[in-house]
Amino acid sequence: MIIVLFGKPGAGKGTQAPRLAEALGVPTLATGDVLRAAAQAGTALGLEAKGYMDKGALVPDGVILGIVGETLASPAYAKGVILDGVVRTVPQAEGMRDALARLGRRVDAVLNFDVANDEIVRRLSSRLVCAGCQTPYMAGAVGDPCAKCGGKLVRRKDDEPEAIRHRLEVFEAQTAPVFEWYRAAGTRVATVDATGTVDAVTARALGALGR
Ligand code: AP5
Repeated sequence: MIIVLFGKPGAGKGTQAPRLAEALGVPTLATGDVLRAAAQAGTALGLEAKGYMDKGALVPDGVILGIVGETLASPAYAKGVILDGVVRTVPQAEGMRDALARLGRRVDAVLNFDVANDEIVRRLSSRLVCAGCQTPYMAGAVGDPCAKCGGKLVRRKDDEPEAIRHRLEVFEAQTAPVFEWYRAAGTRVATVDATGTVDAVTARALGALGR
């Protein structure tokens, strides 16, 4: 089962991905996490990506499709995958379709997590993430230990007000058309109300997948 999680920055994709993955028995792939880990490790890929990410701009399609092609071909993803923020432009959707077709596979469903912009700004302005495992937190203080891995909680550079504004503009201009692209391609798509408790959103998302 290959599920694309779609939605504005801060819609809750990273919060929901591990929950859906556990419920469906498949791993997750989050390009944002892969790129941040590469930046932390100081690899050439990470250093290139960091310049885009810190400003809230998209990393070039070729970089993303390289990560996706390599990852999805690995046996660990043979059963399926929850793709968190992996498809953000129409060329990426086309590239993913072609990469999956080479493996005899396709995207099974796209879930669009729907949240209003004022709630997005509220969420991202107060978000902390674990510098180690990237788990997002709604409460706590910079430097607190992560409940999952013991890493330190930090504020993301792209959660500064200017970068949040830019990410929302980029979403409208470059990412929003991807949902329509999937609909036109005949892929199963569903919009999920992503407000309310985290449990309620998980239940709605699983309901949209018929689980
Ligand atoms: P990425 O890390 O994927 O960032 P994003 O898409 O901007 O998404 P976020 O991680 O900010 O939000 P989210 O939807 O995961 O929400 P979360 O669960 O954390 O990408 C970062 C950058 O990498 C991009 O800007 C780009 O530069 C680059 N990149 C990555 N993929 C790319 C691609 N394919 N192409 C090009 N560039 C790419 O939740 C947010 C907050 O809300 C948290 O504090 C959380 O605890 C809280 N929250 C969650 N659910 C609820 C709820 N129900 N109620 C209240 N609060 C909630």
